[in-house]
This record gives sequence, structure tokens and C-alpha cells, in this order.
Amino acid sequence: MSLSIVPVKEHFVGEVMGVDITQPMSPSEIATLEAGMDQYAVLILRSRNITDEQQLAFSRNFGAMENAHGGNVTKPAELRLQTGMNDVSNLGKDGKPHPKDSRQRLFNLGNMLWHSDSSFRPIPAKYSLLSARSLNRRGGDTEFADMRQAYDALDAETKAEIDDMICEHSLMYSRGSLGFLDYSDDEKQMFKPVRQRLVRSHPVTHRKSLYLSSHAGTIVGRPMPEARIILRDLNEHATQPRFVYVHKWQLHDLVMWDNRQTMHRGRRYDETYPRDVRRTTVAGDAPTVAQAAAE
Ligand code: OGA
Ligand code: MN
Repeated sequence: MSLSIVPVKEHFVGEVMGVDITQPMSPSEIATLEAGMDQYAVLILRSRNITDEQQLAFSRNFGAMENAHGGNVTKPAELRLQTGMNDVSNLGKDGKPHPKDSRQRLFNLGNMLWHSDSSFRPIPAKYSLLSARSLNRRGGDTEFADMRQAYDALDAETKAEIDDMICEHSLMYSRGSLGFLDYSDDEKQMFKPVRQRLVRSHPVTHRKSLYLSSHAGTIVGRPMPEARIILRDLNEHATQPRFVYVHKWQLHDLVMWDNRQTMHRGRRYDETYPRDVRRTTVAGDAPTVAQAAAE
């Protein structure tokens, strides 16, 4: 059976058929998947159990892996997974759920806020690929919002107003909004804000999208309350159900999304039981602020 993509949510989410992600891909399969990502922005691939090596090998078809340094408060000695794998689970190195008061757990709860991966990095991520290795007994859906459709639906005046806005993104803004406010000097240095355009355009399709994220905390040149109201208002607009797809996980699903055109968030689950989801992240290739004003 050859590779095909079946729409799940029109113009936004597709399910990929006729592919085995544990096997090497042919150049034409890779090209079809890339074109599918450009067109949809979220692709679902049902799989059987895959290893971390297989997930990494599949992910590298789409570019180099992002260096995960500086994306969390987990100490290197406490990492459960090898370099290249982002641990999005609620598990410690011992395989058990983090204790309720664990700093790592409290920091990682930020994944339940709408965001785009690595928008806090000067060169933010291209794709994320998330693989479900074990499901939780309750909740834990992942939701995706289409930031192209959200942009398109803005009125002309709002588009003109925000087109050249530059935001500052930091993990301290997203976590700070949850009341997680204590950082070591090293973390403050690591989480220094970076600038991103609020409206970006896709390098292949040139479609514009709203580049929002919980990490965005200021707009350059605007007083803080004004910036926060603008961002909050746009976030409310962009995450209306009509722009959102809710992924209900089946075991071994792999979902890949384009961080340049989407936001996502995890939903709450029973954290006293495991939820093992592992992410690989494909590095982006350019900062958004260097992008010419989106046409
Ligand atoms: C991620 C993420 C949400 C979830 O993997 O980047 O935000 O549902 N995941 O686990
Ligand atoms: Mn994420």
C-alpha cells in the first residue's frame, strides 16, 4: 500500500496511511510527508511499539534534531531518556510518577498551557514528533490550534495593527503565569527572553500565521498590561473550538506537528499513574525576527 493522507480535520489534521515508521523512508515518502505537513500542519501516524532509536531515525528525515539544552529544570543526572529525546512524561529516572511537590513536575505542568515548542529559543523548532509509549487511565488528550486559520479570521484592522509586532518569549513567562517564580541564577540566564515576530509566514507556502505561545510575555514598545491584554485576547481568539483539534491518543500513536503554524497543549490526567510520551524535535532554520515583514 502506498503512502496517502486522509483528512481528519479539514485543512489542518491528516492521518497518514500505508507507512511503517519503524522502517527507513524513501525520498518520495519523505517528500510526501513534508508536503502533507505544509498543507495540514498536524499528521497522525498509527504505529506499533517503536524504540527511541526508531523515533530518532524517523524524525531525522525532516532535519537535524534540536539541542534540548535549556528547555527545562531537570538536572542532567536526573534525565530518564537519552540525548535527543524530550521527556514529556510524568516519570522520574526510577520509572515512577514524580512526587506531587517535585520541581520538575511543577515546571512541566506548563505543557498544559497553549504553546509552540521552543518559541523561547532564538531559532525556534520546526516540527515536534510525539510518541505515546503508555497511556494514562484518565485524560491526557493533546489539543492543537491552527494558527493560520486563526490569523485569516482576524479583521483587517487587527491584522494591520499586529503585523509588525515583536514579542519576547521566555519559559519564565509561561511558568510565571502559573506562579512558578523561583529560579536559580543559572536558570535566569538560560531562560533569558528572546524576540519573535507575532505574525510569521511559512517558508514554503508563505501563509501567514499567528505566532503565539504561553512563553510570549511582552510586546516590544508596549506597556506590559497592554501587551498582556493583546496577547490574551489573541490567544482566546486563536483557541476557539473551530480552530482546534483534540487528539485522543491510542497506544503507539505518533503525532507530528509544525510549530510554525500551530499551538498545542496537553490536558490534565491522573498524575499518580504513568503517562509516557516522548518527543523528538526538529530544529528550525532561521530566527523569526530576521524574517522580512510578512507579506
Ligand atoms: C510536547 C507537549 C503535550 C502533551 O510534547 O511538546 O507539549 O499532551 N505535549 O503531552
Ligand atoms: Mn509542547
